[in-house]
Amino acid sequence: MTNPPPERKKITVPDLARMKALEERISMITAYDATFARLVDLAGVDMILVGDSVGMVVQGEANTIPVELDEMAYHVRLVARSRPAALIVGDLPFGSYQVSPQQAVESSIRLMKEGAECVKLEGGVVMAETIQAITRVDIPVVGHIGLTPQSYHRMGGHKVQGKKSGFEAGGRERLLEDAHAVEQAGACAIVVEGVPRELAKEITRKLSIPTIGIGAGPDCDGQVLVLHDVLGLSDMTLKFTKHYADLRTRAIEATEAYVREVRDGLWPDDEHSFH
Ligand code: KIV
Repeated sequence: MTNPPPERKKITVPDLARMKALEERISMITAYDATFARLVDLAGVDMILVGDSVGMVVQGEANTIPVELDEMAYHVRLVARSRPAALIVGDLPFGSYQVSPQQAVESSIRLMKEGAECVKLEGGVVMAETIQAITRVDIPVVGHIGLTPQSYHRMGGHKVQGKKSGFEAGGRERLLEDAHAVEQAGACAIVVEGVPRELAKEITRKLSIPTIGIGAGPDCDGQVLVLHDVLGLSDMTLKFTKHYADLRTRAIEATEAYVREVRDGLWPDDEHSFH
C-alpha cells in the first residue's frame, strides 16, 4: 500500500505562469465527481478539468453537444467538495457562452459559485471578445483551440485540425491566429487539441501563456487526458490516448467474482454478517 503524499500546496492560476517561466510541465486530467477528484489529487495532478467530456464518458452521448450548464454545475460541485490542491477548471458546455459575452459571464459566474477556480471555453478569434468579458470580471479563462469537440458538426466528427494551410476554420494559419487571439484576450492557459505536433510546438514557442496539449505532441507546456482513458475504463483506444491501467477488465472481473459468490451462496460469509 502506498502512503498518502504529504499535504500539497494549493495550485493557483498565477502558478501556471510561473510553471511556464520555469519550464515545469503541467499535468491536467479530467474528473467528474468527488471520489475520482480525490484520487487524481492524491496522485499529484496540477489541474483537474471538469470537462464536458462527461457527456461522452459518463452520460453515454456520442459527442459533447447535449451537455447542459446545470449538469456541468453539478459535476463542478462534486469535484469542488473534494477540496483538491489541484486547480479546478470548469468547462462551459455548448450553448452556455456562444450567444453573447453577457451569457458567457453569467454561465462562468454559475460555475465559479459551484467551486470552479477558472473556466474553459472553446474557440479562438471568434471568442476573443467573450474571453475578454469573462476575464474583465476576474474570472480566469482557459482557452481551447484545434479539435474543439463542440465544433463536431462543422468538423464532420472528431477530426485532427491544422493539417491544411489556410485562414478558414481549422486551417493552419487560422489556428496560429486563434492561439494569439486567445492569449491577447487574457486567457491564463490554452488547451491545444488534435493538431500536428509541429504546429503545437510553434504555438507553444510563440505564446507566453502555457499550452496544454491533447493529441498535440510532446512539445506543449502541459498535457491533459480524459481520466477514463488513463484508467483504461473505456473500451476505445484513440491514437492520442493511453491506458495506464486496465481497470475495465479489473472491474468486470471483480463484478463477475461477486456475482459468482452470490449465486453460489458464498456471499456474505459469517465474517461479514452481524450477530
Ligand atoms: O471536456 C474535456 O475533457 C476536454 C479535454 C479533452 C481537453 O475538453
